[in-house]
Amino acid sequence: MNHNQPRPFHLPESIPNQPRKTRKCTHQQLNFMPSSPSTSPTIFFNKQSMTTMFSAAVDKLSPCTYVTLAIFFILVFVVKTKPRRSSGRHKLPPGPKPWPFVGCLPELVRNKPTFRWIHGLMKEMKTEILCVKLAQTHLIVVSSPEISREVLKTQDAKFASRPSTAATRIITRGYLATALVPLGHQWRKMRKIMTSELLSPTRMRWTYGKRVEELNHIVRYVHDQAKSPVDIRSLARGYMVNVIRRLVFRRRGLGGPKGSGLMGPQEVEHAEALFTIHAHLFAFCVGDYTHFLSFLDLEGHKKAIRDANATVDKYHDPIIHSRVAQIRSGSHTEADDLLHLLIMLKDAEGMPLLSLEEIKAQVTDLMLASVDNPASSVEWAFAELIDTQKSCGRNRQGGW
Ligand code: HEM
Repeated sequence: MNHNQPRPFHLPESIPNQPRKTRKCTHQQLNFMPSSPSTSPTIFFNKQSMTTMFSAAVDKLSPCTYVTLAIFFILVFVVKTKPRRSSGRHKLPPGPKPWPFVGCLPELVRNKPTFRWIHGLMKEMKTEILCVKLAQTHLIVVSSPEISREVLKTQDAKFASRPSTAATRIITRGYLATALVPLGHQWRKMRKIMTSELLSPTRMRWTYGKRVEELNHIVRYVHDQAKSPVDIRSLARGYMVNVIRRLVFRRRGLGGPKGSGLMGPQEVEHAEALFTIHAHLFAFCVGDYTHFLSFLDLEGHKKAIRDANATVDKYHDPIIHSRVAQIRSGSHTEADDLLHLLIMLKDAEGMPLLSLEEIKAQVTDLMLASVDNPASSVEWAFAELIDTQKSCGRNRQGGW
């Protein structure tokens, strides 16, 4: 993907996007305060007196009033949750009839694999665009190049944001990083730092030596395994985690025994935690669609993510804390790695641009963004080579 491609700005309502500095408590937000003290009367209630007044009023209600109130609340609930009839202008694409509250979630869980169920629905309904309601979320599926172009190019701004899930919220410490953050102020700020400071062509040249060193390690390792089979997946993953650890922390290891393979036990634990996070990041989770069930953590995803994130923090935090202390005390003034760069960034007033939480979130984000895609690409490339016997033969003839 083109990391320099500008992404259109779209501010999701549910995300705290405002920068810390501009986030003020306005009078409108604290709406119990009058806009002008001289013209509007101000009524102050203390919580205890309100509770007493409320219980006194409730005590006086007759059974008939209770029933009327209950019917009223049920009616309000039904009207509020009833799907609105779509007007001609905002008509939704065709799709299966949803159940109240849960939409098509039961069908989604029952029909595996999901893509085959969706293909079947589109065929059955003879449509190239489908709408599947999953609790409060409309899942739109498109299957024609024309509509795909409309979604990915013409209406890009409306669809470009990333989903906000329980997992992404935990990993990004409340959306403070880049790769897992929905579009908005924070994403733009962090992405600018990524493209201009951390992943720019100049910076990539700066890290060249370290990457080559790591490459030499892996070539030596494969050479030493010459007679035994090599697991491409763990090799590619191990290489990526070692490289990014080196670029961010200027070290391959995390302390402890070295181990006989590419990594020691501590590095293996760190790498496994990163890939556990990947496995759960966008995995289907009922709580992401039905927020009132989120606290139940039915699939155990939140727990898995929290545990893996705690493992990652266990290794990252001590390094980050000591570096911040070194740099802020002035005992270290030169940037040797990407973490140094993040800590040394300054705003217009010469103050640190990133908070400690933002640095921690960004380091984890960078680790996650850089380990999975390249490792999967290598694995897929090898799988293709092995599958395509003919091309393998050709490559060998060409001196493979
Ligand atoms: C074969 C290698 C790679 C592939 C195929 C790849 C693919 C992608 C894709 C598809 C996205 C967009 C995800 C989305 O919009 O939700 C992305 C985002 C990102 N990737 Fe990569 N990536 C690769 C390597 C890397 C490496 C090595 C790094 C870091 C050293 C990296 C850092 C990032 C970052 C920071 C983002 C977020 C950018 C943004 O929000 O605009 N990627 N990558």
